[in-house]
Amino acid sequence: MEWIGLNQLRTAFFDFFKNKGHMLLGSYPLVPKNDNSLLLINSGMAPMKNWFLGKETPPSRRIVTCQKCIRTPDIDLVGQTARHGTFFEMLGNFSFGDYFKHEATKWAWEFVTCVLKMPQNKLYVTVYENDDETYNIWKNDIGISEDHISRLGKEDNFWEIGSGPCGPCSEIYFDRGEKFGCGRKNCGPGCECDRFVEFWNLVFSQFDNDGNGTYTRMKNPNIDTGMGLERLACIIQGVDNLFEVDTIREILAHVCEIAEVRYGESLKNDVSIRIITGI
Ligand code: ALA
Repeated sequence: MEWIGLNQLRTAFFDFFKNKGHMLLGSYPLVPKNDNSLLLINSGMAPMKNWFLGKETPPSRRIVTCQKCIRTPDIDLVGQTARHGTFFEMLGNFSFGDYFKHEATKWAWEFVTCVLKMPQNKLYVTVYENDDETYNIWKNDIGISEDHISRLGKEDNFWEIGSGPCGPCSEIYFDRGEKFGCGRKNCGPGCECDRFVEFWNLVFSQFDNDGNGTYTRMKNPNIDTGMGLERLACIIQGVDNLFEVDTIREILAHVCEIAEVRYGESLKNDVSIRIITGI
């Protein structure tokens, strides 16, 4: 794989989806407008809920963005794992009642294998447990071997946060190799260790969750994808964790300078440096 800088990855994603007819929009602010279910924007789709629900008309039925996000459910893990942060950027392509599963999966695969040139033998995909349609698209249309496709339950492969649009999803993982693994026999996509990193989530957004567990089918099925830019850079740049990608490394260096400590000398200090860098 060729080394690509984080900023170039963002541009490559925009260019790819602009060529597929998507309109590029800027990131929305981190503080949501008119959404009582969220304190902070946590995904590319969060500011677009009314477009998904058909309550407002989007400026295009195909949109691409890179959204600034903050997620806190895993805040205790920040600095300790290779892949958790609170603030991050999420790349996403969105379809509002336009294309659906076939295009979303095909284009995602084209981007990672043809543009980023990720080796196919290191890529794994997951689908929601009873989603045979997506399973068959990966297997028959894209040609992924069955030992690289797995079915996971609601916790991993059904996407929702707060109320609003949600649905089953399919995720793409990169195998970083045994040295990042837990060594368990059943280690694979979905394992909590740092070997198989989930970096792109393709959500087949079909339901409106009222926040109390009632799911109503939306008029149009939509596509909502999210790829963590720092996670992607970590994979492409072959660095140990997302604090060591080219742009974040600059922040980490500044933290070390202010704190007058060196990175890479003690695990305890490294975790603290990463926490300050990542929060
Ligand atoms: N909304 C989906 C996510 O954030 C793509 O993972």
